[in-house]
Amino acid sequence: MKILLVGGGGREHAIASAIAKSPRCGRLYCAPGNAGIAEIAECVPIGVMDFEALSAFALENEIDLVVCSQDDPLCAGIVDYMEEKGLRVFGTRKNAAVIEGSKAFSKNLMKKYGIPTAAYEIFTDPDEALRYLESCSFPIVLKADGLALGKGVLICGSYEEAAAGVKEIMSDRKFGEAGSKMVIEEFMTGREVSVLAFVDGKHLALMSSAQDHKRAGDGDTGLNTGGMGTFSPSPFYTEEVDRACRDLIYQKTVDAMAAEGRPFKGVLYFGLMMTQNGPKVVEYNTRFGDPETQVVLPRMETDILDVMDACIDGTLDRIDLKFADNAAVCVVLASEGYPVSYEKGKVITGLESFHGKQDYFCFHAGTKTGPGGEILTNGGRVLGVTALGATLKEARAKAYEAAGWVSFDNKYMRHDIGKALDEIG
Ligand code: AMP
Ligand code: GLY
Repeated sequence: MKILLVGGGGREHAIASAIAKSPRCGRLYCAPGNAGIAEIAECVPIGVMDFEALSAFALENEIDLVVCSQDDPLCAGIVDYMEEKGLRVFGTRKNAAVIEGSKAFSKNLMKKYGIPTAAYEIFTDPDEALRYLESCSFPIVLKADGLALGKGVLICGSYEEAAAGVKEIMSDRKFGEAGSKMVIEEFMTGREVSVLAFVDGKHLALMSSAQDHKRAGDGDTGLNTGGMGTFSPSPFYTEEVDRACRDLIYQKTVDAMAAEGRPFKGVLYFGLMMTQNGPKVVEYNTRFGDPETQVVLPRMETDILDVMDACIDGTLDRIDLKFADNAAVCVVLASEGYPVSYEKGKVITGLESFHGKQDYFCFHAGTKTGPGGEILTNGGRVLGVTALGATLKEARAKAYEAAGWVSFDNKYMRHDIGKALDEIG
């Protein structure tokens, strides 16, 4: 089978590794890919938003399956475009990708179908938003409606902060068109868990739970980032929580999307918060999480190509999705200064230490190959170092050991990924 994977981050490296493991994988291409993906796939220099060039490449090379798991192209309709060209695509169509592309849409969906989430109001006029804020208690959460690279959420401790946030999002358009509409919602407290599911329009197959660490600094301080590390499974995702989510959230969401005439196919990401009143949805994404994927897929035992085929064909109920009874921890190695400003182009050494080691993975997020074949840093998040272990504690110790094998100038990481696990002994 010939496969084209669209994207080039740590998530795509983890997906490429899972695909390459399948005995059904013949030739694997990745557009645009990165220096790590290039070791297991043929990288093609086409951008993820160039649907025309991607389709032409896929048709010319007789690609059997295109895989896309990135929000921008999915929300812009890459799946619809390629399907019209006769290609077979794993991913979410535009009319269902709106579950991530518009927070107002997803909040209204949850309200209509009784899916638990934070109470909210939607605004298109900044003055109305400001008037509403006068009646609110704080903290409160402001969210730009559209895609904003994970940065469109502001948690505001006072009226003044919130008013400044409304100005940033709606008047100054800091996140562009994403801020033409805004959700203002109740601040919730509790532990967060990410649960990813394969969905075929009707059925869903849940993957093992994971937890992300979004803040840049140790002890959850500093700015929100794309994610500084993850672990899977989450010991806080208990059987009781799982039961509640199955009853109130998962199938209900898939059924709601079908009822709206927007059948959801692909990967549905449930960002959940375990509140005192039970689990609630913080957000939906229409794709694999990053860096959740770097701890979830290395634990998956089922052939990913069989699962993707079943999603496209609507036969997911015949798949028994299996995960190893182990644990994984991923520590992100970033460039000092991320997520604000940072230098790129630093030489990375020590990558060969991972060769031939089964329990260790070094997923490339922002890297490129230099003129002399050396691997260079090429982004804020550079590498995701994942280790498997019998327990989370073992995986955590191994991931930090492996994080030390790699060096580059301005290397930065958090030192407390998975530390919360110590609370539970
Ligand atoms: P989102 O992009 O919607 O996932 O939001 C980013 C992060 O902001 C989440 O992972 C939470 O940590 C936080 N957040 C979002 N909505 C809320 C809320 N209603 N209450 C508390 N924290 C929130
Ligand atoms: N790790 C959060 C996300 O992928 O959106």
